[in-house]
Amino acid sequence: MPEGKVRETMQKIQTELTYAAEQIQRTLKDGILLNTQGEKFNSMVIGWGHMGILWNLPTFIVYVRQSRYTRDVLDRTGEFSISAPVQGGLSPEVFRICGTQSGRDVDKAAAAHLTLVEPEVIRTPGILEYPLTLECRVLYRQDQVPDGMPEEIRRRFYAGGENESDFHTAYIGQIEKAYIIREK
Ligand SMILES: Cc1cc2nc3c(=O)[nH]c(=O)nc-3n(C[C@H](O)[C@H](O)[C@H](O)COP(=O)(O)O)c2cc1C
Repeated sequence: MPEGKVRETMQKIQTELTYAAEQIQRTLKDGILLNTQGEKFNSMVIGWGHMGILWNLPTFIVYVRQSRYTRDVLDRTGEFSISAPVQGGLSPEVFRICGTQSGRDVDKAAAAHLTLVEPEVIRTPGILEYPLTLECRVLYRQDQVPDGMPEEIRRRFYAGGENESDFHTAYIGQIEKAYIIREK
């Protein structure tokens, strides 16, 4: 590819990632979707995550509790997609189904009326209703080390009782594609 074209392509990727990072930062606190594709498509609400650079690669990190169905699928497939709204937030129905029910028991795409869209480079689809899409391949996973966290955080997030007690695993995904799905 000629040098000018390479520069143009790099700039385009950079612009897409910058927009995606800003939009994800805005919407993450209210919940966005982490999608996986095992035997079936599944989606769960996440409120924690980071977009950034690791090993000179654009990356998105998600934190998934060990009990989640999503975790089983991530470990088998090594890939995920992220779907975020570009206007407003997740609908109450999607928030409830994808944020409280398990893919072990429910076909969430059908129950939450999600329109799946063919991905570009991985196997996990995006979602038309939440069109900002990152396609990611897992580069690295890291179980949390309970001894390494402040006691106050451990009590607050992992003590059981009203809270859940299982720890999170961080999945660092390389962002292979970032785009907004347009209605055809
Ligand atoms: C606002 C919100 C944010 C959440 N963030 C996370 C998260 O970052 N990590 C996580 O493991 N679970 C998170 N959850 C819980 C999962 O979405 C929920 O347990 C889901 O039902 C798991 O689905 P699965 O068993 O099909 O994987 C969140 C839920 C809500 C409502």
